[in-house]
Amino acid sequence: MRVRMQIDILTLFPEMFEGFLVHSILGRAREAGRLGIRLVQWRDYALDKHHVVDDAPYGGGAGMVLKCEPLFRALEDLRAPDETFPQTQVVYLSPQGQPFSQAVACELARDARRLILVCGHYEGVDQRACETLFDREISIGDYVLTGGELAAAVVADAVARLLPGVLGNDESALHESHMTGIFDHPHYTRPEVFRDLAVPPILLGGHHAKIEAWRRKEALRKTLRVRPDLIEKVELSKADRKMLAEIAREAAGEGQGPVAGGTPEAPGERDRCGQSGETGGIEGL
Ligand code: ADE
Repeated sequence: MRVRMQIDILTLFPEMFEGFLVHSILGRAREAGRLGIRLVQWRDYALDKHHVVDDAPYGGGAGMVLKCEPLFRALEDLRAPDETFPQTQVVYLSPQGQPFSQAVACELARDARRLILVCGHYEGVDQRACETLFDREISIGDYVLTGGELAAAVVADAVARLLPGVLGNDESALHESHMTGIFDHPHYTRPEVFRDLAVPPILLGGHHAKIEAWRRKEALRKTLRVRPDLIEKVELSKADRKMLAEIAREAAGEGQGPVAGGTPEAPGERDRCGQSGETGGIEGL
């Protein structure tokens, strides 16, 4: 079977990916030959005897910076023209990147036959590498991880599952959360009643159009409550607007469930974020 995409991951910690690649959908896709994944050890491209890939920053300051030489060597090697994968995208994972989203995953799945994911560490890579080697810099969220490996796993998973033949049923990717611009609708399975909790009767009636309308309305309801910003961006039909008006009336009548923003933080719990630090942070565990 033809390989659909090749993903090369340049990392200081290849072993972090092993369980994930064997046991997930990606593992199945690899076995089925839909996906090629290669874990590449960054240190193999350092020529000195200790395989050093980092050095202290010019200008002083904390932390270490990933050096140009091993990274240029690695990418020149990995990018070497390959007839099988002419469309290569080199993606650097860092907290300073473009926010990752379903739209970005779709672009990568559509445009690239090969992805090279570069997992940063420490204070990041030398700026000259950033400016020369990468097609994109991607962040998976506004928080700082200890390295790019978890982010690379997220990107690999989100992109690979969009490739034809990777999910068991290609249909399932089309309807799920974010593919339509809003959340997915709620799902139920047997039993019909579990500890007094009943499946909504409309789902048992077999009336296809009514079920579809109910699902759309529930998807809109959840999105409006948790991510109202998504509703503002999505193209709404006349029927959607009617449903949103009904949802607003129902909410006004009922009082709301939990809303976007979550539980307020208890006083004194903040640490490592420039705040009180009373609970001791990571070292205090
Ligand atoms: N490396 C560290 N934090 C990251 C983030 N939020 N996204 C991508 N790569 C990262």
